[in-house]
Amino acid sequence: MRTLTGITPSGALHIGNYFGAMKPAIEAQAQGDCYYFIADYHSMTTVTDPAERRALTRGIAIDWLACGLDPAKSVFWRQSDVHEVCELTWMLGSLTPMGLLERAHSYKDKTAKGISPNFGLFAYPVLMAADILLYDTNAVPVGQDQRQHLEMTRDIAIKFNQAYGETLVVPEAVIRADVATVPGLDGQKMSKSYGNTIEIFGEEKALRKKVMSIVMDSRTPAEPKPDADRNLCIQLLKLVAPAGVAADFEGRLRAGGLGYGDLKKVLFEHYWNYFAAARARRGELVADPGYVDRVLADGAVRARKVASQVIARARKAAGLD
Ligand code: ADP
Ligand code: TRP
Repeated sequence: MRTLTGITPSGALHIGNYFGAMKPAIEAQAQGDCYYFIADYHSMTTVTDPAERRALTRGIAIDWLACGLDPAKSVFWRQSDVHEVCELTWMLGSLTPMGLLERAHSYKDKTAKGISPNFGLFAYPVLMAADILLYDTNAVPVGQDQRQHLEMTRDIAIKFNQAYGETLVVPEAVIRADVATVPGLDGQKMSKSYGNTIEIFGEEKALRKKVMSIVMDSRTPAEPKPDADRNLCIQLLKLVAPAGVAADFEGRLRAGGLGYGDLKKVLFEHYWNYFAAARARRGELVADPGYVDRVLADGAVRARKVASQVIARARKAAGLD
């Protein structure tokens, strides 16, 4: 059972990334056979400054390691260190109907926002399919927003197998219902592109300010709140505080008498403590850049080993041998 996931280095990681993709990926290490990568080719549609890409890629590598990615248990690499992914993208793209790509939510959302589409943005689900299929992946932990891309990956794998015989493993998405869509500061899906994130790592004062800025309604503290379970702070508290604590505050909010300001303070403290150990580990990693380089170099060698076998199989099946 092989688990694989990737994160695009297009901005600082936030707690939506953590609970939706990273935490399930890190927990899957207990079962072994895990493949995790930094999707730097994917960043090319949004980041065009090379120095920025390098810095974001390194930053995300450090973040993953700080959060518990263990290179002794997982293969961890930079997507662009394994060029075969581009070759597989071409093979898969040649079987992918335009209509399938035109229906992609992420593409439609981006063009609707006025982003002028290029080939990379349009073809992104094909590159993502190649990321997954190149490693004989069974399970892909992601947030709800990636569900459609996983369905497209499955469709594309099935098409390849129909055209050329059983060659590619058809993967499954692993989407945890409780963290499928972590809400952001404004109640919408937390996302780098919406500017509504709470980062995993960052400066305490700025992050406290962000948490204190969460928008609440205008009901007075004394008023009972029968909808306390839908309160944004309570939803976030459930992620970062022990279950009993979150339930207690939900009860107090429902009964009335708990002010939103106090609730936000509690949320901040729990959030800050939740990542305290990872923050300390991050400090050590920043001080040892050679270690991060070695991990990624070793990961690239191990990833390439699998990739070269799968690409050879695909080439043979397709008559490119
Ligand atoms: P963003 O939307 O901030 O650009 P990415 O697209 O880089 O995030 O997502 C990386 C991973 O984190 C994906 O698996 C994605 O599904 C997951 N993810 C992102 N935002 C959330 C969220 N708000 N809730 C749950 N998972 C999320
Ligand atoms: N597209 C994903 C995102 O933006 C990142 C990603 C790229 C990915 N390739 C992947 C996730 C392969 C899982 C598997 O969130």
